[in-house]
Amino acid sequence: MKFLGISGSSKLDSLNSLLLHNAFELLNKEHQWEVVSVANIPIFEQTDEEPDSVQKLRKKVNESDIVVISTPEHNHSYSASLKNAIDWLSIPLDKNPFRWKVVATMSASTGSLGGPRAQEHLWVVLKSLGAILVPGPEVFLVNADKKFIEGKLTDEVAKKFITELLNNSIILANAIKCGLNQKS
Ligand SMILES: Cc1cc2nc3c(=O)[nH]c(=O)nc-3n(C[C@H](O)[C@H](O)[C@H](O)COP(=O)(O)O)c2cc1C
Repeated sequence: MKFLGISGSSKLDSLNSLLLHNAFELLNKEHQWEVVSVANIPIFEQTDEEPDSVQKLRKKVNESDIVVISTPEHNHSYSASLKNAIDWLSIPLDKNPFRWKVVATMSASTGSLGGPRAQEHLWVVLKSLGAILVPGPEVFLVNADKKFIEGKLTDEVAKKFITELLNNSIILANAIKCGLNQKS
């Protein structure tokens, strides 16, 4: 499978980017993965000229089998920079790259809840684009600033849930591929 990790943070030393790297390192070596950030995407405007950064992201989402989005929680929702990127990709709606795409979400927050409200808002938006959301388990990395040592995730319980989430995403992606092949 080809995994694309999208970090919803615009920070260079983002905890969510770190979480995605650590998550993908748990995968078997047969899978490919890459992590991108939404930091360099300009503010959305309705225009026919799509910026290069958006074109690149659209291509990466299109070419992936599974997208994993990790977002910070900002004021009880997901980050504005992630929403901005999704809005660019959402047009045109019927060709948006999240349609029929298997998408898993997680969040890392320095707070004691770990970003559940951010993910709930994100699910509503992804569902509107036709994404196939991986139903669980839900992964919220609480107190995330205390969960990494030299960039390595130390929370074994979180690792267990992440592994399960990624395994479920693979099962779902295989099922979707199979169904789409039968349809065409
Ligand atoms: C503007 C702003 C609002 C925030 N609001 C919340 C919040 O509502 N809930 C929460 O758990 N953390 C909140 N935080 C803390 C972020 O979740 C925390 O900084 C996060 O771990 C950053 O992830 P990153 O390093 O990937 O950017 C907020 C941070 C900022 C900058």
